[in-house]
Amino acid sequence: MASTPGAQILVASNRGPVSYTLDVATGDLTAKRGGGGLVSGLSAIDPDAGAVWVCSALGAGDREAVRQGVGEPGVRMLDIPADVHHDAYNGIANSTLWFLHHMLYQTPLEPSFGAEFRARWAAYESYNRSFAEALAEEAADGAAVLIQDYHLALAPRMLRELRPDLRIGHFSHTPWAPVDYFRLLPDDIAAQLLSGILGADRAAFLTRRWADAFTECCHAVLGPGIPSGTRIGVHGLGADADFLRARAHEADVDERMAALREQIGTAPGGTPRRTIVRVDRTELSKNIVRGLLAYRQLLDDQPSWRGRVVNVAFAYPSRQDLAVYREYTAEVQRVAHEINEQYGTPGWTPVLLHVKDDFARSLAAYRLADVALVNPIRDGMNLVAKEMPVVSDEGCVLVLSREAGAYEELSDDAIVVNPYDVSGTAAALHQALSMPADERAERTKRLAAAGTALPPTQWFLDQLRGLESA
Ligand code: G6P
Repeated sequence: MASTPGAQILVASNRGPVSYTLDVATGDLTAKRGGGGLVSGLSAIDPDAGAVWVCSALGAGDREAVRQGVGEPGVRMLDIPADVHHDAYNGIANSTLWFLHHMLYQTPLEPSFGAEFRARWAAYESYNRSFAEALAEEAADGAAVLIQDYHLALAPRMLRELRPDLRIGHFSHTPWAPVDYFRLLPDDIAAQLLSGILGADRAAFLTRRWADAFTECCHAVLGPGIPSGTRIGVHGLGADADFLRARAHEADVDERMAALREQIGTAPGGTPRRTIVRVDRTELSKNIVRGLLAYRQLLDDQPSWRGRVVNVAFAYPSRQDLAVYREYTAEVQRVAHEINEQYGTPGWTPVLLHVKDDFARSLAAYRLADVALVNPIRDGMNLVAKEMPVVSDEGCVLVLSREAGAYEELSDDAIVVNPYDVSGTAAALHQALSMPADERAERTKRLAAAGTALPPTQWFLDQLRGLESA
C-alpha cells in the first residue's frame, strides 16, 4: 500500500534522509537525520506538496523501523531482503560501478565477470525493481520522479514501463567512466545500464565532462544518437553558503577549534603553525595516501617547513563492509604514523589524523585551514573543495586535482595538480604555503563565489524545471 498516495514529487536513492539505530537491550529505536545536497535541496519544496522519498533500509535499525511502521512522514523505506541488498549495494554498486566510474581497477587481475558477478547482477536487477514498483505505487498522475545515482541505474526504464505517464529524471553524483574503460563491462550489461538510465526523460550529471562521457558510451555501445530522446542535463551542485557560515560559528565548532589549535601548536618563536587541511570519507578514490606521500616529500624537499606546518587529515569511515576499504583505511593510518615517526619531535606532530566522523570538528578545521588539499583520483564534484574557501577564517589556498568535478568551476583560482604526481603535489603544497596573504585572500573570495553559485535548493529546483520542459 502506498503510504502517501499520489505524490507529485518523488526522490529515490539507496541511502535515505533518516537512519535508525536499534538498542538491542531495550529494543528502542533512535532516528538520525542525515545531511547532504539532496536533503537541503528537497527543503525548497513546500512541505504541503507531499513529496515522497523512497530509500532502502540499510541496517538492522532501519529494518526494525520498517517492521514497526515507525517511519517519518514522506519517507518510504524499502525492506529489501538483506542478501539481495548486500549483493546489489556491495557487490555491484560499490565493487563494480564505483570502481568503473572512478577507474579503480588493478586490471591485470580485475575485473573478472563470471558466474558470481551474474548472480550479483540478478540481485541488482531485483533491487532496482523494488524501487521502480514502490515509486509506481506512490506517484500521482504525471508526477516528477528524481532517481539518484549508480545504485539505481536500471530503475528509470523499469519505472517507465510501469508508469509511462511519469516525468522521470536520473542524476549521477559520480564521474562517468570514459568509453574504453566503461567497455570493460560485458556488452549486454553495458547496454542494460545505459538503456536503464535512458528510460528517464532526462539524465543529469554534475559536470559537462561526465555528461559527455555518458553520451560517448551511448554512441559506442548502443549506436549513434540517443535512441530514447532522453535529454542530457548538467547541474553543478554548489556549497550551501548560508548554512555553512552559520553552522561554522556555533559554540561546538569554537570548542573544537580551541582543541585543534592546541594539538597543532606553535612554531619556534611562538607563531602559529601553518595548516594543510583535508577532510574526506575514506573512499578509495580520495587519494589520501598519495596526499600524505606528497606531504612527506614536502618535508624532505623543503626542510624549512619542518616544525612549521601540520597536515590536518580527517579520514572518516566509509563502506567498511568491504575488505579493500578496510585495508585502505589501515594504509592511511600506517603512512601517517610513519611520517610522524620519521619527522615528529616532542612538540610537533606533523600529521594530525582523525578517523572518527565529527562534523563540528571538520568545520573547525575548515576555519583554520591555510591550505586545502583536495586531490582525488577522480570525483563527481567534491564539495569539500567548495566548502573550505567559504568557511576558512583567513582564506585558504586550494590545491585541487584536475580529476575532481569541482575543477571545471574552480580551476582558475586553485593550484591544480595531477593526482598521481606526488612530486608535483609536493611542489604545489610548497607554492600554496608560500603564497602572499593578499593573493590568497583574493583567490579565496573568487573560489567562495564560484563554489556557492548553485546552492542545493536551486540545484534541486533546476532539475525539476528541466523535467517540466522535457
Ligand atoms: C558518495 C558519492 C555519492 C554516493 C555516496 C554513497 O558520496 O558522491 O554519489 O551516493 O557516496 O555513499 P554510501 O555511503 O551510501 O555508500
